[in-house]
Amino acid sequence: MGASMDFDLRKAINAISDVVQNRPIPLREFDQIYMKVADMVIQAEYVARVFNNKDVVFVGDGDGIALSTAHLKAQNVINYAPNSITLLDFDERIVNSVRRFGEKLHPKIEVSAYLYNVAEALPPEHFGAYDAFHINPPWGASNGGESVIAFFERGSQATKEEKSLGIVVIADDPDLQWTQEVLRDTQRRALELGYVVSELLPQLHSYHLDDAPDLRSCSCLFRRIDPSRMQTDETCDAKSYSVSFTAELRPPYYVQLAQPVLLDARELVEIKAISDSGDIESWSNLVRRLRSRIVDRIDWVQCTLDLGEMSMPLDWEDRVNSSPLQQSAQNSPTGSSSKPDGASH
Ligand SMILES: C[S@@+](CC[C@H](N)C(=O)[O-])C[C@H]1O[C@@H](n2cnc3c(N)ncnc32)[C@H](O)[C@@H]1O
Repeated sequence: MGASMDFDLRKAINAISDVVQNRPIPLREFDQIYMKVADMVIQAEYVARVFNNKDVVFVGDGDGIALSTAHLKAQNVINYAPNSITLLDFDERIVNSVRRFGEKLHPKIEVSAYLYNVAEALPPEHFGAYDAFHINPPWGASNGGESVIAFFERGSQATKEEKSLGIVVIADDPDLQWTQEVLRDTQRRALELGYVVSELLPQLHSYHLDDAPDLRSCSCLFRRIDPSRMQTDETCDAKSYSVSFTAELRPPYYVQLAQPVLLDARELVEIKAISDSGDIESWSNLVRRLRSRIVDRIDWVQCTLDLGEMSMPLDWEDRVNSSPLQQSAQNSPTGSSSKPDGASH
């Protein structure tokens, strides 16, 4: 990063100081733990450079990196910045403070802020509306990184198909295994969603965190290279949908997932193609792959192959747990659908 730090440090710190002055008091129950000022300068300049001329959405931003990025440009500390900045946060105080400060920046850079809780579906007006996203989510020490994935998915949904970017700020301490596992799982989910890691700046920021003053976060830049893996508005909120599908062919193949699972559009296409091919080996590979993706979260997956009019029915057992369920051909379910069903929230 050294070569890019070509700006007046005093002016930069004074600009960030204006933003810090504007921030509401951090509430730990909202996972607000503020970044230290020098690191805000580093991160804001980096965001401005990587997201130059882009429309950017911040999903959560108590730190004020969004405003810092805009203010550095407005104060002529740097001459690059996003074209527009939108903040989505569930804390009304943060939303209001960003709106207030943003009004002053408006002639130079467009800043807007909206109340939004990541637990809710992304409102349609934000869907695919931005070139890039930035998140500094709850780091997931107590939820196995699920909060990071949830924020990542919302950021991803808010960005456009082609070559969109995402910056993820999460815990990074090689001596704390949970941080490395969350980092790994975030990258794994990002790969599934069609991203590659474009840049990783390790252990870059520190925080006003009394109980872990040495805990650092990294800044990980993701770039979307495969838009077909995007969650569409039909599939991205399917987390609580139960999913079952059958092939109408002879033999009809049936898979019942014991728990709701998210299938993305590409998987649905794949399921249909494999069903149409009637190739049992591909089918069982597909089931095995689906199963391995969700095996941490569920107890069993059941799959029955019914060889239709043939006299000898085959049962296919999934041995995820020690007592796999078996079902004979006669018992095999008859309902038929090639799409996720049972949509309930
Ligand atoms: C989770 S904190 C992470 C720590 C970061 N250093 C900070 O204090 O801003 C980032 C932001 O996410 C917001 N946030 C937390 N949970 C959220 C949720 N479920 N939906 C939307 N925003 C949320 C917080 O209000 C905060 O502004």
